Amino acid sequence: MTQKKFIDSPYVEQMCKITHGLYVHGWDERNGGNVSYRLTEEEVSQYVDTDKVLRNEPIDFDASELAGQYYLVTGTGRYFKNVIDNPEGDAGLVQIAADGHSVDIHWGYNDGAQPTSEFPAHLMTHINRQHVDSKQRIVMHCHPTNLVAMSFTVPLNEKIMTRILWKMQAESIVVFPEGLGVIPYMTPGTNAIGEATAEKMKDFRLVLWPQHGVFAAGDTMDETFGLIETIEKAALIYTTIQSQGGNILQEITDTDLADLTTRFGLKPNPEYMVGDSLVTGK
Ligand code: 13P
Ligand code: ZN
Repeated sequence: MTQKKFIDSPYVEQMCKITHGLYVHGWDERNGGNVSYRLTEEEVSQYVDTDKVLRNEPIDFDASELAGQYYLVTGTGRYFKNVIDNPEGDAGLVQIAADGHSVDIHWGYNDGAQPTSEFPAHLMTHINRQHVDSKQRIVMHCHPTNLVAMSFTVPLNEKIMTRILWKMQAESIVVFPEGLGVIPYMTPGTNAIGEATAEKMKDFRLVLWPQHGVFAAGDTMDETFGLIETIEKAALIYTTIQSQGGNILQEITDTDLADLTTRFGLKPNPEYMVGDSLVTGK
């Protein structure tokens, strides 16, 4: 029996499409951004001989809680512009080793590449999101322009940020009723930023990295990309309002937000439901 090739699998196809989508939106310049996709043994074994390990790479934190799990993940330093034409070089399929301190590479990274430098943040996020909901399989990081710009002009406060973004369009609270988690500015690619992000991911599916980008988690590629699209659209509306002079005459009121939660059966963070008006500032 000839085994189906992993490069022809729907998982690689989805990775190619989503990295291309992130690139064309302008959210992943150069090597910006990274994506990880948890796959099951059943899915992987249709394409890959899981007894065969191409090589092993160390990771410098304890991922033993994920031991045995498979992740399709983009490579460090790789340009999202190129993944669509070179998935076997720019992405790889890894399995977390039993001791949690290294990964076995089963496919990809065929020119010596390694998982993203943000792998600690991805794996720590996967750990916490699986505790919340075992269906969550995707972690996505990118650099959406307007949301990052807001991290310069809006206080780094979850309630303030969330309420502005919820009030930019009716869709926002429906798509991210938990709101936006915010960490301080931190050095990328470190275990520390991974720990801070994962801590926020206990309560949020979107976490802002000020002056850098956003981390998002979800069940599917589409859903996770959709989260980022929606919050970035809200941020674009905010930017546009500012460029029109910033004088807000009318808004989605707190009563309107409450009506949205009733209509769509949402359970938003109640602390964010009441606060200052964007029109009066109080
Ligand atoms: P990598 O190239 O290591 O994935 O890093 C890109 C990035 O966005 C860092 O935050
Ligand atoms: Zn980044």
